[in-house]
Amino acid sequence: MSTKRIVVLISGSGSNLQALIDACTAGAIQGSIVAAISNRPQVYGLERARLAGIETQTLDHKNFADRAEFDQALMELIDSYQPDAVVLAGFMRILTANFVQHYSGKMLNIHPSLLPAYKGVHTHQRALDDQVKLHGATVHFVTAELDAGAVILQAEVPVLEGDTAEILAARVLIEEHKIYPQVLGWFCAERLSCKDGYAWLDGQRLLEPLKLKA
Ligand code: GRF
Repeated sequence: MSTKRIVVLISGSGSNLQALIDACTAGAIQGSIVAAISNRPQVYGLERARLAGIETQTLDHKNFADRAEFDQALMELIDSYQPDAVVLAGFMRILTANFVQHYSGKMLNIHPSLLPAYKGVHTHQRALDDQVKLHGATVHFVTAELDAGAVILQAEVPVLEGDTAEILAARVLIEEHKIYPQVLGWFCAERLSCKDGYAWLDGQRLLEPLKLKA
């Protein structure tokens, strides 16, 4: 089986990107990250990529007239790397249906909540406001509807007394760094795919999200 070509999209600090870089280096993912692309200039994630010898690109959405134009340019940039997997790692953009369709079955996202709970932003604060006991993160295939694609793997995190959104976010992030490399590893090993709106792992349709085992 060939080594998969991975393009990672970021908007910020890139700690998930780092976890993926480390997993590739360790051989836990049969793939190599061929580019890291940011829609925001000078974010730390780009520096992380450079330090790992990965090609970086910045495509600032502010330089485009509208979402469709930006997505078209982003698509052309991504496709120039001929990726097998497109990985959204803290990429803070809503994507057009056309873009999502183009990468159907090979685009993954990580979201800081136990989907379907808390789609969208400010997930940690919303979980605290609701006084839920359990929060976490989810890796899923991307579909046109925001944070609604086939769920693959989740990590659960307890909400503790005295938590602020920042404290809870940090606890969730630790788990994000475990589940994203795990899922990308399965995908690159051709154990994971997306068919008929469901995730399939080792020939089994996932009716429920898998949970990270401690
Ligand atoms: C993560 O919590 C991710 O789930 C969310 O944004 C954060 C990005 O963190 N979408 P990083 O840039 O990977 O450090």
